[in-house]
Amino acid sequence: MNTNLAAGLSGGSSAGDELAEIPLVDLRWQHAVVSDEVRAGFDRVIAGTDFILGEEVSRFEAAFARFCGVATCVGVANGTDALELALRAVGIGPGDEVILPTNTYVATAEAVVRVGAVPVLVDCGPADHLIDPAAVAAAITERTAAIMPVHLYGDLAPMDEVCALAARNGLAVIEDAAQAQGACRDGRRAGSFGDAGGTSFYPGKNLGAYGDAGAVLTGSPETAATVRILRNHGQAGTHDHQMIGCNSRLDSLQAVVLSAKLAHLDEWNADRRRAADRYGELLADVEDVALPTPAPGEPVWHLYVVEVAHRNEVLARLRRVGVQAGIHYPTPIHLMPAWEVLGYRPGAFPVAERKAGRILSLPLFPGISPDQQARVVAELATAVTA
Ligand SMILES: Cc1ncc(COP(=O)(O)O)c(C=O)c1O
Repeated sequence: MNTNLAAGLSGGSSAGDELAEIPLVDLRWQHAVVSDEVRAGFDRVIAGTDFILGEEVSRFEAAFARFCGVATCVGVANGTDALELALRAVGIGPGDEVILPTNTYVATAEAVVRVGAVPVLVDCGPADHLIDPAAVAAAITERTAAIMPVHLYGDLAPMDEVCALAARNGLAVIEDAAQAQGACRDGRRAGSFGDAGGTSFYPGKNLGAYGDAGAVLTGSPETAATVRILRNHGQAGTHDHQMIGCNSRLDSLQAVVLSAKLAHLDEWNADRRRAADRYGELLADVEDVALPTPAPGEPVWHLYVVEVAHRNEVLARLRRVGVQAGIHYPTPIHLMPAWEVLGYRPGAFPVAERKAGRILSLPLFPGISPDQQARVVAELATAVTA
């Protein structure tokens, strides 16, 4: 992979330019790789005026289903809709409880509320940032209808344990695969373990569109057919409104971008893995920085998340010197003001709460150069000892 190109496109960063900003995510490198194909595809769509759903969307849906190893992919408007429509299609609704981790992006919980069900939050495991199967088991009640494991940071959640619990208790499994396109364990990819999976093609995701987009993945023909109807105003055919649906259609221009990028996704995920390994080597001797503990299988490193004490000060110092680190996420859902209605108190989920104060996402994207990574690590080493 041409890392000089990356340096050239990341705001002029190079070995000789020590003060250049290092972004958390740089999408310009990816765009340079696919730009000719994207422009040709845009011209094709504009000439054909086939802007919504249509051939480009069908082509992408088929290719992404193949990539994920599922029977069907249904393109929708964004990842939150994908999760909501997947829940609705498997029959989750008012009166149901859905178990999900408190340390996820808020959209996972929003999808549950939007179908009229109640989110039941659980902690993550002590050794990682993924849903804790023991906590899931303890949270199951007679109202539980589904479990939503989240493949956070590009790591597959413990799907064997989650699916076994679901099978024993007659629950649906809806995977939140927004951060894990291509993550693999025992030959199976994110989105292929549960009854359905929802994914997001928000621009910064491993497979990102040029705007909002998402998809539902499922092996069930019934679930796929229901999502297809729901996403298009409940229509089974033109003017044949069989369900109360919504407008959550994927548009053709986004499908062009996604098809062009999908052809490179394995290679780009491999580049993320190489960059993660490089951080591991560079950080091995840096004291006071806890390295990420990837889950078994092949993670796709959507984010490279370390843990440090005095995180907010470290982050501020990094930003001052032009290293754009981030936090994913600073507040677990149960401590967000909007979610006080769920009735959880501080201290309810100690592992997630402790991590929320310590986690720091370092710049990582396909095309990040060894020089950029070396500078991130040098600045981090200085920041943690300041
Ligand atoms: C874990 C997770 N779930 C759901 C979503 C929601 O996706 P979108 O922003 O496309 O609605 C995201 C993306 O931000 C996410 O990271």
